[in-house]
Amino acid sequence: MKYLVFGSANIDKVYNVEEIVKKGQTISSSKQSIFAGGKGFNQAIALARSKTETYFAGCLGKDGDLLIDQLKKDNINTDYIKRSDNDCGHAIIQVDKNGDNSIIIAPGSNFEIYKEDIDNILLNFDKQDLILLQNEISNLKYIIDKAYELEMIIALNPSPYNDAINQIDLSKVDILLINEVEGKEISGYEDYEMILKVLHKKYPKMLVVLTLGSKGVSCINKEGIIYHKDAVLVRTVDTTGAGDTFTGYFISNFEKGLIEAIDIANKAAAISVSRQGASSSIPYKEEIK
Ligand code: RIB
Repeated sequence: MKYLVFGSANIDKVYNVEEIVKKGQTISSSKQSIFAGGKGFNQAIALARSKTETYFAGCLGKDGDLLIDQLKKDNINTDYIKRSDNDCGHAIIQVDKNGDNSIIIAPGSNFEIYKEDIDNILLNFDKQDLILLQNEISNLKYIIDKAYELEMIIALNPSPYNDAINQIDLSKVDILLINEVEGKEISGYEDYEMILKVLHKKYPKMLVVLTLGSKGVSCINKEGIIYHKDAVLVRTVDTTGAGDTFTGYFISNFEKGLIEAIDIANKAAAISVSRQGASSSIPYKEEIK
């Protein structure tokens, strides 16, 4: 079974601020840093650090060498990365004194993934290989339709939520990893049990994993059984990439069983919020113990 993350890679420009800037305000940051990030990139790193052999597919711009170098350092297969003459995607990230963030994304080369690229890349994967997707690249719907035709296992983290998600036939998705915001958008409910029940009713074959930040994780399996696990609480430094860490570790450990996968992913996410940056904060498997 091969694990393919088909997704975004960004250069994260991080600004530490007292409070996230308000409308009309100009503020100074106390520290500025550049990190490798992007939801696809981070999730691939989390899979790889959890000791899963990982393939990453996406499109990097002319300034993407630092991203490729990091993927290679983490032993991720980079054969299916396309290069463009334009700039990479980047993210402007403010992190406040509580470790909370706000993010603006400029898609850059992440939006240069075309149907023919997808056809060529997916030729190398087949039935029962797993594809992990997010919503920061072009042609997401086409990728899902193709992967479904190939009978791949499809895991989707529909983040960030926008209209592209409404175009997707979610009945093609095997594993849906969402947070409360995405859960509300997709189900129409705020209450976490209602989110899970509504999604299960609509998509009975889908495993839904709902992350609730400091309130932990709840999920509903194909039998309609709800399982909840509290979060591991730590001192928060920076929450950026915690969801990606959870997703990568969950998918990597999924074959061990749902409860064990949630437990390991929860611990990995806790370590990640105690450190700065997105991919830079993702722990190695040895650290989880
Ligand atoms: O989930 C965190 C990521 O979101 C950051 O690395 C940033 O690039 C944005 O994609």
